[in-house]
Amino acid sequence: MSLQLTHRISPNVPPSILSRRHFLAACSAATAGAASMDTILEPRATTALAANRTMEYWGYNGLLPGPTLHLNPGDTARIRLINTLPEPTNLHFHGLHVSPSGHGDNPFLAIPPGEQFDYELTIPTDHPAGTFWYHPHIHERTAPQVYRGLSGAILIHGGLDDIPEIAAVPSETAILQDFTVDRNGRIPEPSMPERMRGREGAITAINGQLQPSFQIERGGALRLRLINASCSRHYRFAVEEHPIAVLALDGNTLPAPLWADDWLLAPGQRADLWIEAKRQPGSYRILNLPYDRGGMGMFATVPSQPSILGHLQYTGSAAQTPHLPESLTSIAPLPAPSITRSFLLSEGMMGAFLINGRAFDHARTDTTVALGATEDWVIENRGSMDHPFHLHVHRFQPVTPSGEATPTWLDTILVPRNSTRRIRIPFLDFPGRTVYHCHILDHEDMGMMGTLDVTSP
Ligand code: C2O
Ligand code: CU
Ligand code: CU
Repeated sequence: MSLQLTHRISPNVPPSILSRRHFLAACSAATAGAASMDTILEPRATTALAANRTMEYWGYNGLLPGPTLHLNPGDTARIRLINTLPEPTNLHFHGLHVSPSGHGDNPFLAIPPGEQFDYELTIPTDHPAGTFWYHPHIHERTAPQVYRGLSGAILIHGGLDDIPEIAAVPSETAILQDFTVDRNGRIPEPSMPERMRGREGAITAINGQLQPSFQIERGGALRLRLINASCSRHYRFAVEEHPIAVLALDGNTLPAPLWADDWLLAPGQRADLWIEAKRQPGSYRILNLPYDRGGMGMFATVPSQPSILGHLQYTGSAAQTPHLPESLTSIAPLPAPSITRSFLLSEGMMGAFLINGRAFDHARTDTTVALGATEDWVIENRGSMDHPFHLHVHRFQPVTPSGEATPTWLDTILVPRNSTRRIRIPFLDFPGRTVYHCHILDHEDMGMMGTLDVTSP
């Protein structure tokens, strides 16, 4: 069965008018029983209404954010990238556990302007179901391309969707982006000091909209899939007067819901949240609480007040009371690691961002791992700011100071300044070369990225 998302979107409808419900309806009908998906992603420069202003941005198929890709474990996704941008680009499928080689999730490709490339992703039948995303990954141009708008959600179905109590609740995806727009409606390139800290835009948008409202039935619940698609901005996400339950992180279901007042999302990270409408009917602000991620100079100022991302709007009344199960999944313990490696994140002079003292070189192999090994990686941050460390293809579990793996899968872990994080990674499949890097995309572009080669004997 073949699905062309591009044909389901009327080209005459500006992206800000396309409702999320419209999208979901179009997509869920088409994915039932899908064994393959064919889609076209054409990044292009577009002028349209986004975040309440007419702006020139880059969007996949002209959309901000790009179309949502719906997949099932076992699917083969064929994605044709048609590059109509004035510079090279490519695609990365952030968090997917798929081959990094050839036409797969290959970060070493560069598709020149005017050319196209056919990606083919074979999603394993036991692939985690959850919230993932795609974005360009072209070295030295990743931050500008993402900042101009290029990103989209990938939803792998199953997992939480198969828990009846959770399936009974409406679900929304919220892609968090930020940018600055000048008075000509263009997204300007930031200054060197802004890039060194990692560019943050003056405007935050959810799904290309300024302060959108999410509806929730009084007495009901909402599942919200958050994706931090911003280059550098960290979000301490909260809904006023509403505690949130975290159901999944980075597309991986947690063993049990985790209740919190707010949740910190570093760039690249995702969180599936569950929010219950137990307050007085009304409208509640969705907030980004202040968070100090470090840095030097005037761009490192931390706002003293929360900023408003959107609203949670009560409507009608839920037909039945939602029930959140106490347990969501079970995660088998990992074997003991066979080796421990160290990674030192540092900030050198003049915009040098380094791992183990070296800036990225695609031709050099920094880390070689034997297929089948389980490894501990110790990541030490000696810089002046927090660095979210991300590994492609292979997910990992955080390890406590006493050496226990926490049964939680992640693909991106925040390593605060002056601290160390340990992660445990099973390299059970998918030999080939890929990368790990800081997900502050300016830092990645300025060299804080290394190469990994998983080799089969
Ligand atoms: Cu979302 Cu290599 O990154
Ligand atoms: Cu990634
Ligand atoms: Cu960084």
